[in-house]
Amino acid sequence: MRILFVGDIVSTSGRRVCQQIIPELRKKYNIEFVIANGENSAGGFGINKKTYQELMESQIDLITTGNHTWDNREILEIVNNVNNIIVPYNFLPWSPGKKIYINPELNLAVINLLGRTFLDTPISPLLSIRELENQGFFEKNLNIIIDFHAEATAEKYFFSYLLDGKISALIGTHTHVQTNDAKILPNGTFHITDVGMCGSYHSIIGFKISKILEKYQTTLNNKFEPERERPYIFNAVLLEIQNTKVVSFKVFNEVVN
Ligand SMILES: [Fe+2]
Ligand SMILES: [Fe+2]
Repeated sequence: MRILFVGDIVSTSGRRVCQQIIPELRKKYNIEFVIANGENSAGGFGINKKTYQELMESQIDLITTGNHTWDNREILEIVNNVNNIIVPYNFLPWSPGKKIYINPELNLAVINLLGRTFLDTPISPLLSIRELENQGFFEKNLNIIIDFHAEATAEKYFFSYLLDGKISALIGTHTHVQTNDAKILPNGTFHITDVGMCGSYHSIIGFKISKILEKYQTTLNNKFEPERERPYIFNAVLLEIQNTKVVSFKVFNEVVN
């Protein structure tokens, strides 16, 4: 089975590059399922109905989120009515949204977890993993993909090695900068500390450089504004999974005009 995981899609530029690239890649590599982090798809902050629709038209099957899940309140009108947006598993148990995605045909399970470092994370991801373990989640022979949405590199590695052999892949998101450390761990779990982002190539994590330069050189409290200019960057990872183990992978870091 081939699965493509696409890094944080930032605003219009991120959506455009996905529309341009994903349908091509699906055909070229015979990809069965596409997961993308969509937490920044609406102007850099959250998801709305329009961006959800556009991501669906880009042939994305499942959207994961993160710390920006609720930035755009329009998500509340769709998150409980669709089955292909998941919110972090370690949000509070009563918060809206689905916390696990299961695809029985592909024997696939996807969860999204928030890291603790520098993020306002209500429940420790370790407690969440222990809870899933107690439910026998890791013993069902599922192809499990975790989107680990976090700042700290070591935190992402900690969970990958903790779960090596129990999950198919842990894919880091959130920093919007792709790391050069994609690897298969000794017991067959794939790890990348951060898969990166989709958005404008000349930007600061998808946002306008000038605004951020001004913000940090003055006392002006500039809001981050998404950059929309081409060229774009497309960051993703393609996984080939056999019997729950990743047997090969390809990392995409493409500049697209
Ligand atoms: Fe993000
Ligand atoms: Fe994030």
